[in-house]
Amino acid sequence: MAELKKFGKTDMNITEVGLGAWAIGGPWLFGWGEQDDKKSVKAIHTAIESGINWIDTAAIYGLGHSEKVVATALKEMTQKPYIFTKCSLVWDENRNVGDNLSERSIRMEVENSLIRLDIDVIDLYQIHWPRPVEDLEVGWETLNKLKEEGKVRWIGVSNFDAGQMERVKKYGDIFTLQPPYSAIMRGVEESILPYCKENNIGVIAYSPMQSGLLTGKMSKERFEKLPADDWRRKNKAYTEPEFSRNLKLQDLFITIANENNVKAAHVAIAWVLRNDAVTAAIVGMRSPEQALEITEHMDFRLTDEDFARINKFIKENL
Ligand SMILES: NC(=O)c1ccc[n+]([C@@H]2O[C@H](COP(=O)([O-])OP(=O)(O)OC[C@H]3O[C@@H](n4cnc5c(N)ncnc54)[C@H](OP(=O)(O)O)[C@@H]3O)[C@@H](O)[C@H]2O)c1
Repeated sequence: MAELKKFGKTDMNITEVGLGAWAIGGPWLFGWGEQDDKKSVKAIHTAIESGINWIDTAAIYGLGHSEKVVATALKEMTQKPYIFTKCSLVWDENRNVGDNLSERSIRMEVENSLIRLDIDVIDLYQIHWPRPVEDLEVGWETLNKLKEEGKVRWIGVSNFDAGQMERVKKYGDIFTLQPPYSAIMRGVEESILPYCKENNIGVIAYSPMQSGLLTGKMSKERFEKLPADDWRRKNKAYTEPEFSRNLKLQDLFITIANENNVKAAHVAIAWVLRNDAVTAAIVGMRSPEQALEITEHMDFRLTDEDFARINKFIKENL
């Protein structure tokens, strides 16, 4: 039985690993190449049957497609996970993506997400990106209204910095934050995570394995074979000189994983969970095999020695 953690000031107790449904959205501007929906549904079933109790998706993932795939998976399930989704990134009939935090747009977005997900209420509704920055107050006020109206149970933000959270909190409590956090992306450590800890804001960290780079299965050869429309081809972490340095960190994760009879992916996730401001990690799983492998050692924790070893490597090399 996976361990549950209280999710900030919400009434939810969540597993320390949740399923991220970005890649299963399939192709769009920031897609991961082709994705077989049947495989995605099986990945979701495997993850939930293995003890995970929440799914993080977004309207924008696959331009609505990820939410529909989640709905398909939910239909065949008796034990329903918590469903977290997001608003603010919108698209038009030509698949162009933009930002919108107006009340009218968010209200339309929430109705569409409820329809696509085929549920009566969203467990956690998050502002995906703090853009346009002048509309943060309007956006946050709208989410508060949706909570009062019972469309969504809890509300949170994603990619906000501490100043932006401080700015909007006058319009209502912030319950959760979804920031990027991995051994490679540590920008949130300085002020964002301390702010969340101080204000009892639940934190679900995204891309804990740096979108597949720290899983033990990434290499220069594999990168060359990624589909032309996989967004990682344009990502800085996969661009030299960072890419070679990041792969060396992956090598260390593989060594530590072998010593502990787990996989590098578990070391990457455990590193993120060491920060006590972090409630849980959102892990992208796009096949049943990946879901099985991740959930097999969800309870893996790093020893103080291994944690220090990784941090020394990061300080000296990244
Ligand atoms: N709020 C935001 O702005 C934001 C941004 C990014 C992500 N997120 C959320 O966070 C979630 C996770 O982030 P992420 O998907 O970027 O990164 P991640 O969890 O660090 O990496 C996920 C990727 O790793 C690979 N993988 C998964 N399990 C594996 C295994 N057992 N062995 C080998 N490879 C494995 C898969 O990619 P391949 O098989 O293709 O290598 C998978 O798509 C997203 O799904 C989304 O819900 C939110």
